[in-house]
Amino acid sequence: MSVLGVDIGGSGVKGAPVDLETGEFARDRVRIPTPQPATPEAVAEVVAAVVDSFDTTGPVGCTFPGIVRKGVVHSAANVDPAWVDTDADALFTEATGRPVVVLNDADAAGLAEVRYGAAKGRDGVVLVLTLGTGIGSALINDGELVPNTELGHLELDGRAAEKRAAAAVRDDEDLSWEEWGGRVDRYLAHLELLFSPDLFVLGGGVSKRFDRFSDHLHRRAEVVPAALRNQAGIVGAALVAAGREDTPA
Ligand code: BGC
Repeated sequence: MSVLGVDIGGSGVKGAPVDLETGEFARDRVRIPTPQPATPEAVAEVVAAVVDSFDTTGPVGCTFPGIVRKGVVHSAANVDPAWVDTDADALFTEATGRPVVVLNDADAAGLAEVRYGAAKGRDGVVLVLTLGTGIGSALINDGELVPNTELGHLELDGRAAEKRAAAAVRDDEDLSWEEWGGRVDRYLAHLELLFSPDLFVLGGGVSKRFDRFSDHLHRRAEVVPAALRNQAGIVGAALVAAGREDTPA
């Protein structure tokens, strides 16, 4: 069975039907640039265009880069503030004419890594972190997600951790892998103190360059790169839409 997943990011809205047996895309991904300003109405039009480009029917899963409870957006750290209090489930359902379920982007990535990727078959406490423009987090215990943990907003060196250790910060501040890896390590040390995870999974585009900074990570818990890379959001969203995972409340 394939179910459509859509991933809303700062620069692109991406979607693909996902084969839920394998966790792989059943068709090539479609990407449309995120409209600027990325207001709810403008993004809803683009989500509808992505959905319309496939001939699948049935429910659609969609990620959003902020807190999403019961389909309603509660934060918008790196997106248009007009999103706060928007019922994204209702907006996208109206725009696409299909039942749409919306969840946090890192939560979707975490569910996908647990089901198909780097955390497959692992029990205990798993923390999946997406290192991109911001830092997203998914906290999963024995396969059960605790949604909307927002651990990228913990404090690190007097600022939100995502302003110190996101992948974008390495570029913006022109940090060496060693400098940036050291920041990531201190961030993971803080998380280790709070959650004693058994496994950290590091996702986002930077996961494919894991070997450039892994030597600078000195955690008790195992730290591994994400397996699904930038597909994880789409795959996790499709999983939730299919009802194969509980929809985070
Ligand atoms: C948001 C999170 C999101 C993360 C990654 C953070 O700024 O607060 O909700 O998961 O960025 O997009």
